[in-house]
Amino acid sequence: MDQRPVWAPDDVDIETPSAARMYDYFLGGSHNFAADRALAEEYIKVLPDMPQIARAQRRVVHRMIRHLLAAGVTQFLDLGSGIPTAGNVHEIAQVANPRARVVYVDSDAVAVAHSRSILADVPHAAILRADLRDPASVLTDPVVTGLLDFTEPVAVLMIAVLHFVGEQEDPAAVVAAYRDATAPGSYLAVTHATSDYNPELARRAEAVYTRASHQIHYRSRRQILDLLVGYELVEPGLVDMIHWRPEPDTGPDPLGGDVRRYSGYTALGRRP
Ligand SMILES: C[S@@+](CC[C@H](N)C(=O)[O-])C[C@H]1O[C@@H](n2cnc3c(N)ncnc32)[C@H](O)[C@@H]1O
Repeated sequence: MDQRPVWAPDDVDIETPSAARMYDYFLGGSHNFAADRALAEEYIKVLPDMPQIARAQRRVVHRMIRHLLAAGVTQFLDLGSGIPTAGNVHEIAQVANPRARVVYVDSDAVAVAHSRSILADVPHAAILRADLRDPASVLTDPVVTGLLDFTEPVAVLMIAVLHFVGEQEDPAAVVAAYRDATAPGSYLAVTHATSDYNPELARRAEAVYTRASHQIHYRSRRQILDLLVGYELVEPGLVDMIHWRPEPDTGPDPLGGDVRRYSGYTALGRRP
């Protein structure tokens, strides 16, 4: 069993692998425990490209944030924000616009504690511990309402998290609740794991996560599109994540540009 490090909150369950801490491990972070690393390694056996997929996902978020900033968006609600890593949303946004406001939301104790510590001296940014599947609680929490003005456009980010909301939890209704709370000109950014390229592999990947804090649900492109109702998709639409507005001169793709190995779609939708 791991010793509890100083950064781990007292109430954290270090025996149950956590989706947040497993993702931190995929990204090469150090906020994870033996149980997280063991299950993450099992996942990597099924999906050896996962560390590269996680990094590609971070890169596409950065491209989307830059797009949003250029479009004049200054408010961000990052749902399922995870354990902070290099290139957090507020860092990218506030370099471009020091007045940009960012609220992070996560249910994981370590993600919240670490976010709180790095945000202690950061103006216009905060973390809320909440379950994103309860939009009414998130949207009325003073942490959110104190920083974000919902009469102005807000970018809602659901990066690598919507696939943790199962069908029985009505993901379309969850997305719609955030959409309806935001003003015209607001955005939704999504990345989502897909079963399209290799259904058998997706099934095995889902089986690994049955032992984690959150179950993962790989979806087809059609199923993901159905979650984006009410948004006009910014070009090029819902696409393989490496094909969403790639930037020139970033060097060769680490997975040879093979979208089957990434097995993930991304889209940025604008609320008309
Ligand atoms: C795969 S990580 C992605 C983190 C981050 N969005 C990124 O792209 O780096 C998924 C995160 O979503 C969080 N999460 C999953 N379900 C959640 C829920 N219902 N409410 C709040 N957070 C949730 C997990 O705790 C985890 O931190």
